[in-house]
Amino acid sequence: MQTAFDVPRVTGDEPSRAASLLPAPQGALVVEASPPPAKRPVRLSVVIPTYNEGKNIREMVIRLTDLLEGPLRGAYELIVVDDDSPDRTWEIASRLTARYPKLRVIRRRGERGLSTAVIRGWQAARGDVLGVIDADLQHPPEVTLDLWRSIRRGADLAVGSRHVDGGGVSDWAFHRRVLSRGARLLGLALLPGVVGRVSDPMSGYFMVRRRAIAGKTMSPLGYKILLEVIGRGDIRRVGEVGYVFRERLEGQSKVTWKLYVDYLRHLARLRVDSLPVARFTRFAAVGLSGVAVDMLLLFLLGDPRALALPLTLSKLVAAGTAMANNFLWNDAWTFRDGARRGGGAARKLERFARYALVCGAGVALNVALLHLQTGLFGLNRYLANAVAIGLVTLFNFALISRIYRRAAAPPAAGAAAPKRSA
Ligand code: GDD
Ligand code: MN
Repeated sequence: MQTAFDVPRVTGDEPSRAASLLPAPQGALVVEASPPPAKRPVRLSVVIPTYNEGKNIREMVIRLTDLLEGPLRGAYELIVVDDDSPDRTWEIASRLTARYPKLRVIRRRGERGLSTAVIRGWQAARGDVLGVIDADLQHPPEVTLDLWRSIRRGADLAVGSRHVDGGGVSDWAFHRRVLSRGARLLGLALLPGVVGRVSDPMSGYFMVRRRAIAGKTMSPLGYKILLEVIGRGDIRRVGEVGYVFRERLEGQSKVTWKLYVDYLRHLARLRVDSLPVARFTRFAAVGLSGVAVDMLLLFLLGDPRALALPLTLSKLVAAGTAMANNFLWNDAWTFRDGARRGGGAARKLERFARYALVCGAGVALNVALLHLQTGLFGLNRYLANAVAIGLVTLFNFALISRIYRRAAAPPAAGAAAPKRSA
């Protein structure tokens, strides 16, 4: 059994190298409101998560140090969080600490994954502002200064974005662009209040004020730590800075198909965690009543022992009636507060039209998700259908809630545009 401090393969300067390693924080994934003590105040802590970045880490540390030293007058730190890489990135990094005293290194064992690595780094961080940057130089280090400026101008969160002025991707294959866009659209549908706040919710290059996330228990999955920060943090002002996502020159990307599945699960988890429980329970109950109506009509209209109408016709009438049933119950019960402020019969009809539109989009999404899961990931079709139904229920709930928020809002204050600038 090795402990966190065992450094195998003893060579000359081993003791100092081992001493320069920080223990990995344990326990819940929560950043404390007051930072661990430091000899002098630290304003900015930048976490550099690494896995097999031995060929990149040196240049990264040198460039960040050059950039930050002047503007921050030494009040910063760099924290490499390495998941015990086979290429010994942690060792290469810890050797650099002699020349770069602002650098601290965590060699993490037992726990793995990009998002948790970032949070563990922030837990060890002493700064008031917490940042993250990829180690592979795909995030241009210079942009760090723009992010810092945005924070100093008052942003709680400053995000490096590929989708604002000055941003872009250098040479991405078509399918990667499509996937990236599709992922954002799906996120927007499920979590408009989170994903809609930034133009590049997939970004792994950003800074956030400690106080905006202090005390919040994080529960990240996969790669997209920014979703977690926006979803659970208390973020008022958002700043965005354009950057071009460079090609990787050394080492390999760790992106696999599993990360796309993780992303879906992450969206669903955040959605569920931020759900108004009582209202969603009513919505789900109404949904079940709709299933009962649909089944009953399918039997009455289509069954050979009853009216024996053609199957398609029976199903269309059954589904349409179920939808109307659901609308009436949701309008009178689930969203009664919004509906009451929503005005007369004409407005109710308008709500029904919107409602029907959402349901139509839901059906399309249902089909798309089913194909995506069975076609791309080879999932069992019934399992895939259950996942699709779950996601579409969340999707419908999010959009239908919106109809009622809009109905209840005073006419002029319609949908507010997401805040884009610092
Ligand atoms: N500690 C640790 N543990 N670090 C990891 C792990 C892990 O399990 N997996 C990846 N990393 C590190 C890599 O070494 C690199 O520094 C960074 O996280 C990003 O990993 P890549 O594999 O290079 O990801 P990418 O090039 O596809 O970038 C995507 O993710 C980024 C998230 O930070 C894109 O979505 C970027 O826009 C995004 O910024
Ligand atoms: Mn990369």
